[in-house]
Amino acid sequence: MLQKYDDRNKNIQVFIKDRLYPREEAKVSVFDSSVQGGDAVWEGLRVYPEGIVCLEKHLTRLHESAKALHFSDIPNKKEIKAAIQKTLEANEMTDDVHIRLTLTRGEKITSGMDPRVNQSGPCLIVLAEWKPLVYDNASGITVISSSQRRNAPQFLDSKIHHNNLLNNIIAKIQANVAGKDAGLMLDERGFVAELNGSNLFMVKDGVVYTPFAHACLPGITRNTVLEMCKKEEIPIVEADLSLTQFYNADGVFATGTMGELTPVVEIDGRKIPKETTLIVRVLKLFKNSIRDYCEPL
Ligand SMILES: Cc1ncc(COP(=O)(O)O)c(C=O)c1O
Repeated sequence: MLQKYDDRNKNIQVFIKDRLYPREEAKVSVFDSSVQGGDAVWEGLRVYPEGIVCLEKHLTRLHESAKALHFSDIPNKKEIKAAIQKTLEANEMTDDVHIRLTLTRGEKITSGMDPRVNQSGPCLIVLAEWKPLVYDNASGITVISSSQRRNAPQFLDSKIHHNNLLNNIIAKIQANVAGKDAGLMLDERGFVAELNGSNLFMVKDGVVYTPFAHACLPGITRNTVLEMCKKEEIPIVEADLSLTQFYNADGVFATGTMGELTPVVEIDGRKIPKETTLIVRVLKLFKNSIRDYCEPL
């Protein structure tokens, strides 16, 4: 699935550091830490008329990621919300919108890795674009397993939602070359971690399973599905799960803010059923309750 240019985004305004810029002028310095070392943290947010899905949880994860990376002068939630509001209002956006919220360590006084040469505070970027869900959730996606492993905590903790995305980008390239929609990444022990940009769930014999969040992003949509299933008394278990278990699942789906809940219909050439009763139920439950998770600014 290749995202297309959307003409509605031609003249958008983008918030950078302390003000809005038109799209063509929305740039960061070559001295910015994100350019120099991918030294930034980010969140993807989805906007509905009722508000932003799980906004508080996203802002908490952004804060925790920035704290783990020892950023200084991190903007507080009120300041970040004000920047988001300003951006959405300037673009008259209330629905069908995805926000890429980035906090870089900021501009350096000279090129280099050392955060002590970052002396002008972090840089907040609010990039709001018109963007429907990125996958066709009716037909589902095909994936291949990647030779690129997902980071476990001894390498770079996947609980930090950082901009060092090259592992995941390599997995995505492998999927592209194979003509599939996403790369399935294993952890360093060979258990399934997640897809290159979304979390994974499988259903077997009436139970929903998802990998432990040891080597995957603890996704907020993943968390919503866990909560929703518990509330509905649908058996749900976090476990170490192998590829073989996924190949033989009664159904598999991916979760993420960009695509919400997406059936996975093929893994490494093995067909996965899509219409399993429990998968259909979980997908419907999510669709019917997503707006209850929206928080106004
Ligand atoms: C690697 C990865 N996994 C999973 C997700 C899904 O997370 P969320 O549900 O919080 O959007 C993302 C989203 O950014 C991601 O980058």
